[in-house]
Amino acid sequence: MKIAPSILSADFAALADDIRRVEAGGADLLHVDVMDGRFVPNITIGPVVVEAIRKRTRLPLDVHLMIVEPERYVGNFVRAGADIVTVHVEASPHLQRTLAQIRELGAKAGASLNPSTHPETLTYVLDDLDLVLVMSVNPGFGGQKFIPAVLPKVRLVRTLLGGRDVEVSVDGGVKIEHAESLARHGASMLVAGSAIFGQSDPAAVIKKMREAAARA
Ligand code: DX5
Ligand code: ZN
Repeated sequence: MKIAPSILSADFAALADDIRRVEAGGADLLHVDVMDGRFVPNITIGPVVVEAIRKRTRLPLDVHLMIVEPERYVGNFVRAGADIVTVHVEASPHLQRTLAQIRELGAKAGASLNPSTHPETLTYVLDDLDLVLVMSVNPGFGGQKFIPAVLPKVRLVRTLLGGRDVEVSVDGGVKIEHAESLARHGASMLVAGSAIFGQSDPAAVIKKMREAAARA
């Protein structure tokens, strides 16, 4: 199980320190939440911050675009240093083209599903995907409560993917207590913000999450 701390819950005035702590603590990737105040009711960061983070960590950057018209910006984020760029299916009328565009730019392509969106929307882009990001909260804010109804959906996504080598990542309200069942349902990556950065010892949380997932 890969663990991707979401910097949304980090201290933005001391971001380099917080990133260093989770990198030393065994994080596999860094999850970067980009919000535009349109697709979601909150505004966060853009490519300039991704570029600054890129200089401070060796961890792959998993950039989650919660923005309308993501195709206009994927190039900026890849050039800023994103390793994975994930767009929302609800914001991408030409999803196949956008995923292909991300790969052409040299990054891995992800598609994200809001809690109420059915995985069948991915049926015709399965070969264009490197990652599926299953939202377990309605995106927009950190620290929300995990929606248990997404558990069977994680399994549905894994089944839909067949044997393809595609990450299934789960994002939103993920705590240590969810890791085992998420792993059992087919998740290969867990995104966690408040569970990791909200704690005095982020390394211990990362370790416990990985151990819990390994019990599955
Ligand atoms: C929600 C974001 C998540 C969020 C995770 O809109 O996409 O990545 O920051 O934070 P927690 O783990 O606190 O829900
Ligand atoms: Zn996210």
